[in-house]
Parts: sequence; structure tokens; C-alpha cells
Amino acid sequence: MTADALEALDRRHLIHPHQRDSRSERHVIVRGEGCLVWDARGTELLDATGGANWLCQVGHGRREIADAAAEQLARLEYFTSFDVYSNDKSILLAARLAELAPAGLDRVFFTNGGSEGVDTAIKAARLFHHRRGEPERTWLLARRMGYHGATYGSGTATGFDGMQHAVGPNLPHVEKLTPPHPYRAEFYDGQDPTDFLVAELRQTIERIGAHRIAAMIGEPVMAGGGVITPPPDYWPAVREVLDEHRILLIADEVVTAFGRTGSWFDSERRGMRPDLVVTAKGLTSGYVPLGAVLLGDRIADALTGGDGFFHGHTYFGHAVACAVGLANLDLIEREGLLVNATRIGDWFREGLAAAADLPVVGDVRVEGATAGIELVSDRDTREPIMAAEVAAEIREAHQVVVRDYGNTIVLSPPLVLDEEQAARTTGAATEVLSRLAPDGQITGGH
Ligand SMILES: Cc1ncc(COP(=O)(O)O)c(C=O)c1O
Repeated sequence: MTADALEALDRRHLIHPHQRDSRSERHVIVRGEGCLVWDARGTELLDATGGANWLCQVGHGRREIADAAAEQLARLEYFTSFDVYSNDKSILLAARLAELAPAGLDRVFFTNGGSEGVDTAIKAARLFHHRRGEPERTWLLARRMGYHGATYGSGTATGFDGMQHAVGPNLPHVEKLTPPHPYRAEFYDGQDPTDFLVAELRQTIERIGAHRIAAMIGEPVMAGGGVITPPPDYWPAVREVLDEHRILLIADEVVTAFGRTGSWFDSERRGMRPDLVVTAKGLTSGYVPLGAVLLGDRIADALTGGDGFFHGHTYFGHAVACAVGLANLDLIEREGLLVNATRIGDWFREGLAAAADLPVVGDVRVEGATAGIELVSDRDTREPIMAAEVAAEIREAHQVVVRDYGNTIVLSPPLVLDEEQAARTTGAATEVLSRLAPDGQITGGH
């Protein structure tokens, strides 16, 4: 089928998540190799986003993964893991995850992706308390600017207005706290961010009542919020308060796990000591849908005791997805991609140094192989410039795919990105940003 015909069918039939009316062009991606992808018109694009969704750790088009999937499809495509049944690949992947995870997170519940994982973690936290005689513990603490997914449950935890309009204004039993965003000093009334946030957390717990709160959820580093790293004392201080009140902590590592920030799990080094960890994306590098929630014996035993955990999806522990997950983790390990993520971060820091000096750039944040470039019209007032047109111009003028999240340009490439590709990415971003005026107009547009 021609590119024109595909694009016409796309316009007629596909509802694209997060699409704006302002852009009519299409890039129908038909092939990928490493960090490069090609659209139906034959245009080559450098993917500096990991499939435009923070994944694809091992790069596109890996034969090793295709072989693992094909072999499993021919041997056993599917058998349920409900009740007494299981399959060998889901067992092996669960054991592998327990090995890689922070100590004490030995039990695994598979999902089809991140949103289902967040829903699972919320239900697990509530049921844990219920089984232990505290059925009133139903509230969830989350944060503004946190992204946790688009299903009804995970959507209520997500801290962006667009999502709130869809899930409804009166969120059931969810309280949103201020995010730890050191660049946005205006959030903290001139106080130290951690002091402010810990005081807010304590007041919130007092207002709702600790006996009514099941868990708090948070990304170790906020991804969709714009690559926001908390101050180093934030998570340890939060953990301490939650411990005092026996409130569980759910780490949403859907973006950060499996190397994105340079380690298998990011929550460990932030001092979160989470009770539950939600993963997805990098678990299979996006080759097939799969997520996994990791938890310790204390919670898992409470869930599986009594009448069992009345929760699970048909595709739990899908044999092909788990075979792909195993092959993917092998590749990440064998090719040293955790170390490469850190290297990519160094190249980004160096490559974005000139951009950081531009008047429209308020802040450049790099965490392993991911970077956020926050755009402002005025460095004193930190008034945002929305980044959508900048991301589109970087793609159309330089054939480099980056993402925009609000007023932040985000880079999150496959972890196989090389130095030349990193330089091309940061060079493209810097060139377009040098043409960005404080009113958001891009001069000399494509
Ligand atoms: C931190 C985080 N949590 C959860 C999700 C939801 O995952 P999914 O889109 O696989 O449902 C995402 C997706 O981007 C995410 O970034």
C-alpha cells in the first residue's frame, strides 16, 4: 500500500492518543533498526525517544528477540497462569526479576503494561490492609505532574488536568501532593523543597487520617512531568513519614526500570525502599506488551491468603511476552546497556551545554539516558513556552524524533544510541531552540 493510501486510512480510522488538531502530517513507521526508523515514504528518522514512549532499550529490529518470540510461538503460544496452571517462561522471568530487583521484592504479578500494573498495585495495597483488619485504608496519595497511566484507576492517580477531565472531577479517595521540582522554586513558599513537602505530607495524613490511607504512589524520577529529579533527601524523608503511619509506598518504575536511568531499578538509589514496584516498557523493550508488579512476601502472602487475589488478566504471564522479556534482559546485560545509559547522559550533558545558555531554556535535566529541556519565555518568572511546535520542528527540519511534555522537550533514546547519534540529537535540539523566540514563535521555520 502506498504512503498516501496508508495516511488516508489513518486519518479516517485511527484515533491517536495525544494528537493535536494543529498537526496534519503523518509519519507511518514501517521499519526500524537500532536507533533508526523509516516511514512509509522512505524517510529515515533518528529515534531519540525509544519508540516515542521511553522504551526500546535494546534498539529496534533485533533478530535475537524475533527469534525468541518465533521459537516460543511455535512451542507454546499461551496457557493461563490462573489457579494451579503456569508456563515455564513466566516462571523463569519472575525468578529473573526477583534476582535483579532490590532485596525483598521476590514476588511477581504480570500485567499487559504500566496502567494495569498501577491498578494492580493500588488494589493490592488496599486488599493488604483489608486482609489485616484495616478495611478503611482506601486512600491513595499521589502527586501533581505524576503520570501513572490512562485506565480508570491509574488515571485517577495521574496528576494532569487533561486526565482528570476524563476520569471525573471528584476523584475517589485520591489526594494529590505537590511534586518535588527544585527548578520550580515558586512551589515552596521560599522554603527548602523537602522541608515544605514533608510538612505538606504530614498535614495531609493528619487531615485524611492515617487509618484511612492505604498507600502513596510516585515515580522515583518524574518522567512525563518533564524528567524531574527530586532532591536527594526527598524520598528517604517521605519513606520515614510513611513508615510512621504504616502507609505503603508504590514506586512507579514504568519508565525508570531496566536501565533508563543507568540501573536496573532506580528506586533503590533514591532511598525509596518501596513496598511495591510497577514496571513495564523496558521489560520487553516494547517488542510485545508486558508489565510486572514486584512485591515482597509480606504483601504477597496477605493477597494470596484467604480467598486469594480476585484480580488478573487473561494475558497474565503470556508465554511469548515472557520469552521476549527474558531475551531482552539478556541483551541489556550482555551489551552493557546500563553503563551505556550513563554514557549517553554524559553525551547529552555535553551536547546540551550550549542550549542551556539560551534565554528560552530555563533548565536542562539529565538522568542517565534521558533528558528534559524546560522552555520558558522569561528566566525570572519561569513562564512556560509549550514545546509541541519545537518538537515538530526538530523532527521536520532534522529528522530527529523527540517528545514534548508540556513545556519540556524530552530525549529518551534506545540505550544503544552511539556518540555520533547523541551529538546529532543534541545538535538538532540546540539548532531549533536557537531559533525559538520568547513568544514561542520559531523563526526561519521549516
Ligand atoms: C511512569 C509511568 N507509569 C505508568 C505508565 C502507563 O503505562 P502504559 O502506557 O503501559 O499503560 C506510563 C506510561 O507512559 C508511565 O510513564
